[in-house]
Amino acid sequence: MKTDNSAKQRADRVWLTEAACDIEDFRALVERTTLLADYPHAISVEKNVLIYDGRQVLDATASPEGRRAVLAEICEAFATGPGVVVIKQAYADTTVIDAVSSLFDEIINEQHRTNTGGGDHFAKPGANDRIWNSLEKHCLKDPENFAAYYGNALIALVSEAWLGPSYQMTAQVNRVNPGGAAQSAHRDYHLGFQTSSVIEQFPAHVHRLSPVLTLQGAVAHCDMPLESGPTLFLPFSQGYEPGYLALKRPEFRDYFDRNHVQLPLQKGDLVFFNPALFHAAGTNRSQGIKRVANLLQVSSAFGRAMETVNRARMSGVLYPALKTMLADGRLTQVEAGNAIASCAEGYSFPTNLDRDPPVGGLAPKTQAQLMHEALAAGWEAQAFVAALAEQAEKKLS
Ligand SMILES: [Fe+2]
Repeated sequence: MKTDNSAKQRADRVWLTEAACDIEDFRALVERTTLLADYPHAISVEKNVLIYDGRQVLDATASPEGRRAVLAEICEAFATGPGVVVIKQAYADTTVIDAVSSLFDEIINEQHRTNTGGGDHFAKPGANDRIWNSLEKHCLKDPENFAAYYGNALIALVSEAWLGPSYQMTAQVNRVNPGGAAQSAHRDYHLGFQTSSVIEQFPAHVHRLSPVLTLQGAVAHCDMPLESGPTLFLPFSQGYEPGYLALKRPEFRDYFDRNHVQLPLQKGDLVFFNPALFHAAGTNRSQGIKRVANLLQVSSAFGRAMETVNRARMSGVLYPALKTMLADGRLTQVEAGNAIASCAEGYSFPTNLDRDPPVGGLAPKTQAQLMHEALAAGWEAQAFVAALAEQAEKKLS
């Protein structure tokens, strides 16, 4: 009957199911070649992955039009392109990274001593070490180094390219020790962290929404030859709409195992990818390389981040460091702005509009705006911390 047929078609459009995933449809989508000519700012395509040079990207963003062009190119690389980009030599000065690596080692040693933290949703205990919320721990332990590290213009650029402004930075360290096994192929947060029975309850447009709520990235903290197990990717797989469900099926997992690509990285390189891209950390077959990456999970201003971050506490600690570093020329205004974007809340809502009304606009002042104002006016740190507390109080119901 016609009515029954249209009802079924509607149900099939709205409700994606594990059973309806089709490996031939998937193959038709992913068996494509990335053309360098489509991405004029990239320097090469390796194994279907776009490679950029950090210095050249920054040079191209010097003018507002150039910046818009680069943002658009990177946005489409994530959306309809291979879904993954590598930025070589994103840190001209890797001593900043070495300083953070020592700090991470201290935190991991402390976790071992006190038997706290570091549990991993993918790996067996001991095969690797995790630092959850490395963002806040890093900021509180060494705010000046945090400012230099997150002042990085390329992290800010790529985050903005996918998520727009006012993104929420979170970060987690993954140290995979020699012998550490590969992860199974997966997609990331939000829908990527649910079971099929839960995923199937969300209508199709939420499957399309999930990938635009976050961006996944990693800073390589050491050289990562292939034997050390850098991340495995399947380019173009982010475009498969029922992909959150497909990965539960063996033929899709087999396809990933046979067709994934893997690129070596050097210390100071960045990798960013669409969170819906099929991927997995590789096996560390090296003798002595502890593969350390700081995983950046950047969330849209409109999404809920995976981790709780005390941004007021971080901002209070970062503020005097920024003041000092701006004063002695170790940080430019732009770098300070990038560090603030990785630290403070950049979005006005949710708030209590009775107590925190929008003044002179539609949105109340954000934590990040408060920090910029305080820096511009040269407030004492104590006054800034008091203003942060007052602002946080106003947002409560
Ligand atoms: Fe992942």
